[in-house]
Amino acid sequence: MQNRRIFFVQPPKGPVTPACYDVRDEPVPEPQDGDVLVRNIYLSCDPYMRGRMGGTANYPGSRDFPLDEVVPARVVGQVAESRNPKFKKGDFVWGFLGWELYSLAKGGGDLRMIDPSLGPISHAITVIGMPGLTARVGILDIGKPKPGETAFISAASGAVGSVAGQIAKQEGCIVVGSAGSDRKVRHIVDVLGFDAAFNYKTVSSIGAALDEYCPNGIDIYFENVGGETLEAVLDRINQGARIPVCGSISQYDNPEPSKPKNIGNVEAKGAVMRKFSIYDHMDQYDDFLPWIAERVMDGRIVYFEDIVDGFDNTIDAFIGMMNGDNLGKRLVRVSEDPTLG
Ligand SMILES: NC(=O)c1ccc[n+]([C@@H]2O[C@H](COP(=O)([O-])OP(=O)(O)OC[C@H]3O[C@@H](n4cnc5c(N)ncnc54)[C@H](OP(=O)(O)O)[C@@H]3O)[C@@H](O)[C@H]2O)c1
Repeated sequence: MQNRRIFFVQPPKGPVTPACYDVRDEPVPEPQDGDVLVRNIYLSCDPYMRGRMGGTANYPGSRDFPLDEVVPARVVGQVAESRNPKFKKGDFVWGFLGWELYSLAKGGGDLRMIDPSLGPISHAITVIGMPGLTARVGILDIGKPKPGETAFISAASGAVGSVAGQIAKQEGCIVVGSAGSDRKVRHIVDVLGFDAAFNYKTVSSIGAALDEYCPNGIDIYFENVGGETLEAVLDRINQGARIPVCGSISQYDNPEPSKPKNIGNVEAKGAVMRKFSIYDHMDQYDDFLPWIAERVMDGRIVYFEDIVDGFDNTIDAFIGMMNGDNLGKRLVRVSEDPTLG
């Protein structure tokens, strides 16, 4: 059996290009005692991976991906061979593996079992996994929503934003989103159930759009993008506003990320602006899993996965996601998902 693997070979200068990677064919590794060989099915494409590729000062605290190693990524797969008593051939698992067709989890690594009765197995790395937990931590723990408040979510149709907005809505907020295409805007309102949304690329100005759609000001801003959007929001926050800083994707390619000129408004308004990393909240995962699975299964949380087929499309799928061509969570399906029948 041959393995195909994507190595990270060159930090980008600005946007990620295919030259950052090298695709290599190698033999599938032999598991030793304790190891688990996983046939990968879904590979994750996440914006934080750009931060880990270097060339930007924007992702404090994170380690760069090692050069000349397989791109680390969350993966859903099926055990192909196990020499570990905790896993058996055929089990569905997820873990931090890599952009490759087969991964060897040494000693079982951080593999976790997937319960297929909780929904599609891909959900383990999407709505009932890291992006969903990120949304809950940001909105509930930092945003602390109250009924009647206005919550504004940027990158609102995406993996994290789509869930953040739906949770805020269920907490009784008026929820407004922004995204980069009219198709996404329709999706945010018609499918995800936000009260309003706008296309930040085509409005006359983001500030004018916020004045129109958030006439009572902004109590919670779920920050995903930074730059111009953040600055426009800071001019419109209410007294005591909360700003969970989840990410700032508009700045990830920028070696000198822009800082908002009006950051002083945070203090002036007695607001809380808190950057958070989901890695500091993984202790919530066991409590989160049944909480979110129930809401997805009964339809309270609607979730879209944007699945690109074919391992050889992985690099383009990632670059496309960074440029906004995903509607929902971007994954790559690299081999058959037997649960799809
Ligand atoms: N704090 C944490 O632990 C944590 C965990 C997960 C994710 N995050 C962060 O959460 C944010 C969303 O991540 P996600 O996984 O949900 O990704 P996503 O929203 O599914 O996909 C990324 C989206 O970002 C938008 N985007 C790209 N360039 C932009 C720009 N210049 N200005 C505005 N929007 C832009 C694009 O949508 P448009 O078409 O709308 O432009 C794109 O579809 C990112 O900042 C990410 O780093 C943080």
